[in-house]
Amino acid sequence: MSMSRTWWRGAAIYQVYLRSFADGNGDGCGDLAGLRSRLGYLKDLGIDAVWLNPWYPSPMADGGYDVADYRDIEPVFGTLAEAEAFIAEAHEHGIKVIIDVVPNHSSTASAWFQEALADPRARDRFWFRDEPNGWSSIFGGPAWTQVPDGQWYLHLFAPEQPDLNWDNPEVHQEFEDVLRFWFDRGVDGFRVDSAALLFKSEDAYEDLDGVHDVYRRWREIADEYGGVRAGDQDGGQGEEPGGGQGGERVLIGEVWLPDQERFARYLRPDELHTAFNFDFLACPWDPAELRRVIDLTLATHLPIGAPPTWVLSNHDVTRPVTRYGRADTGFQHGGRLHGSPSDLELGRRRARAAALLAMALPGGVYVYQGEELGLPEVEDLPDEARQDPMFARSGGANPGRDGCRVPLPWSGEEPPFGFGGPGPSAPPWLPQPEGWRKLTAQAQLADLDSMLNLYRSALRLRRELLGDGTLTWLPSEAGVLAFRRESGLVCVSNLGPAAVPLPPGELLLASGPVEGGALPPDTTAWLTGAGPGVSGR
Ligand code: NOJ
Repeated sequence: MSMSRTWWRGAAIYQVYLRSFADGNGDGCGDLAGLRSRLGYLKDLGIDAVWLNPWYPSPMADGGYDVADYRDIEPVFGTLAEAEAFIAEAHEHGIKVIIDVVPNHSSTASAWFQEALADPRARDRFWFRDEPNGWSSIFGGPAWTQVPDGQWYLHLFAPEQPDLNWDNPEVHQEFEDVLRFWFDRGVDGFRVDSAALLFKSEDAYEDLDGVHDVYRRWREIADEYGGVRAGDQDGGQGEEPGGGQGGERVLIGEVWLPDQERFARYLRPDELHTAFNFDFLACPWDPAELRRVIDLTLATHLPIGAPPTWVLSNHDVTRPVTRYGRADTGFQHGGRLHGSPSDLELGRRRARAAALLAMALPGGVYVYQGEELGLPEVEDLPDEARQDPMFARSGGANPGRDGCRVPLPWSGEEPPFGFGGPGPSAPPWLPQPEGWRKLTAQAQLADLDSMLNLYRSALRLRRELLGDGTLTWLPSEAGVLAFRRESGLVCVSNLGPAAVPLPPGELLLASGPVEGGALPPDTTAWLTGAGPGVSGR
């Protein structure tokens, strides 16, 4: 495992949605014990780091993004001591640990909010006003809720998630301390939730300039921890003060901004290290659109020296197998195209091809748990099982995000599919479809052509063959995306309607069957040593 200082530039980062990953105590909810028991699976998958969604004490009004205490662990997930043990064990497995930090809002259950409720003089850490403005919550409904004494507080998300006031220096101090608290415990980085929303003016709450000073300060703190030590040639072998595994500590932004120039400001050399590429995630399965997004991404990142990232899914969006099997293959937040017919076989073929495309592009790549198993979106959850506040706050118009958060199937023939470990366990917090027996990790390990084995092979090859750098597009026929990486790897994705001849070279891996040197539709191949063009004409 490479331990270079700049490990994050090309890292494959696996997103763990802790509630749904693995349940170690059989209560139906994923936890740290379950995660620790599956570290071998993650090591064998070949990822460099994990990113965990919030693990802090929380009433779970928004899956943990309502944080009651930033310096402890939700009891359902485990204890602080277990979190420390997990960090150490992940490092022993060569896996870095990134955790979520949620600076835009807290929880109504937090000590600060409880103080504010009890004493109107203690309200400056939040946005309390005598009159609400007309803002709507991102989850639907009004963005203001009234407290018993008549004042209103702002919550851009659920009412249980009061927005913090970043005009108050105490809020800055608090989060700087929180970063240090976890860096001291060895975490290798933070994923910054809602990173563009922190500051508010009378008429705007997104991308206000003040936010950049916050991230400059956070970068200084991260750099203090990830610094090169005297006599350390590559800057990162062995233990560092604070228990880090070696290498820089990173800040990854959740920045949804349509304007590339504004987006790029977050990735200046003294701010965040990387940010999620949501343009790629939302892009339809269309060769011209994908080419446009890839070019735009490279043009945005390369001049500022920040590595791009490639994301196909996360805990907020429709699973790719379902998305790519629909007539409209893009992702939309609004209704999520819920229930629009999907050809899952087609979707799975495309999701495989998309995974090899994403993993061949220069920069970092994210894998959301279950993506490697090719899980589809669960669209038929009973209404009473749905927990995402989006569902209730939209009056049921938006099904919300539960369908991509269903607990993973690990083994066996029936629910809970090993989610609760080997012994008897309570039903998982969201019900798993019976049909997932074919998609368990155990079943897929035994099948050489499975999605899981494709991800394992691709992640291994990617680590061996790809580095930083850029790509060179190769001439190709309509509907085909073909490029060469500096390492010599050639990636060819056929999004056209007919098979195309592959270029000369050794075939390393393909997302579907390649016979007679022809690449079928909706398939990606990786080759090495190929000639200059791929059209063969
Ligand atoms: C983005 C997170 O990914 C999402 O799950 C959450 O609901 C919002 N931020 C609010 O924290």
